[in-house]
Amino acid sequence: MDKQYLKGCFQLKIWITGYKGMLGYDLVKTLSKDYELILTDKKQVNITNFNNVEELIKQHKIDVIINAAAYTDVDGSQTNKKIAYNVNAVGSKNLAIASKEHNIKLIHISTDYVFNGDKNNPYTEEDETDPINYYGETKLQGEKFIQENMSKYFIVRTQWLYGINGGNFVKTMLKLAESSNEINVVNDQFGCPTFTKDLAIAFRELITSEKYGLYNVTNSGECSWFDFAKLIFEIANVDVNLNPVLTFQYPTIAKRPKYSVLNNEKWMNEGFTPLRSFKDSLNEYMNLELNKC
Ligand SMILES: NC(=O)c1ccc[n+]([C@@H]2O[C@H](COP(=O)([O-])OP(=O)(O)OC[C@H]3O[C@@H](n4cnc5c(N)ncnc54)[C@H](OP(=O)(O)O)[C@@H]3O)[C@@H](O)[C@H]2O)c1
Repeated sequence: MDKQYLKGCFQLKIWITGYKGMLGYDLVKTLSKDYELILTDKKQVNITNFNNVEELIKQHKIDVIINAAAYTDVDGSQTNKKIAYNVNAVGSKNLAIASKEHNIKLIHISTDYVFNGDKNNPYTEEDETDPINYYGETKLQGEKFIQENMSKYFIVRTQWLYGINGGNFVKTMLKLAESSNEINVVNDQFGCPTFTKDLAIAFRELITSEKYGLYNVTNSGECSWFDFAKLIFEIANVDVNLNPVLTFQYPTIAKRPKYSVLNNEKWMNEGFTPLRSFKDSLNEYMNLELNKC
């Protein structure tokens, strides 16, 4: 094992980019007990600027970078192409080059949108990519830049994230139900909702691992957005008329995949802990959300 990662927990320094985001919030909560964290937002270190990245790395002796920074506006990426490419592709490349130069492990997050969604069983890491939209294209380019420039990386593809810190589908549904008792939700797009807290816990295992590579990591199970909404209202005990609709009845600027469940077998076969079912996670998340003062 690389001696660097045998250091006692507190001796490892982890830099989390985009720490104010939805996943960033849970990463900080999960890792701050055991590790020294360097936390930056866009104002402190803009990952599109290589000099900013280098300066931060030189200033602190970083062992691991977790890149939770991204341009995540999927529809916005169709029109703001330059920003999306710069953050998701160039930003990832900058972190990869700097990581390689300073012998740092890089943990990076990617998406199911690197696929076209035409499959009807879960995507593996070996499946051919074919991004469904421009955001997916930029995320795939980011993956490629990392793979071309370094070897000590983990790229984690995940999907349908929701968490305490940020706008998400669960909050949108509950908010909608306050003003309308007729809600339409698409029933022909399938994936697996994933709780950012569970993903952050999974990342803890990567900090000391050297089983580098590309992994799919999501909660377990699958559902349509309609099924997910139904479960949300059941748990919240909210009575609404929920109508299943088809994608063409709910057009979006960026296309969404019909089916993009991610197969987590590689993750489990390498000995990492499987994530719990999305239903269990949703129950915990909604308990937290509904009992917030
Ligand atoms: N959300 C999902 O459903 C989902 C699904 C699959 C994969 N992912 C991936 O998971 C990761 C985390 O997603 P998330 O939902 O937690 O994202 P998020 O809440 O949008 O957080 C992203 C963070 O990155 C920051 N950021 C943007 N541009 C930056 C730059 N140039 N330099 C430094 N920081 C910058 C943002 O800051 P500002 O807010 O100030 O711009 C924000 O704090 C991303 O890689 C995303 O692509 C997300």
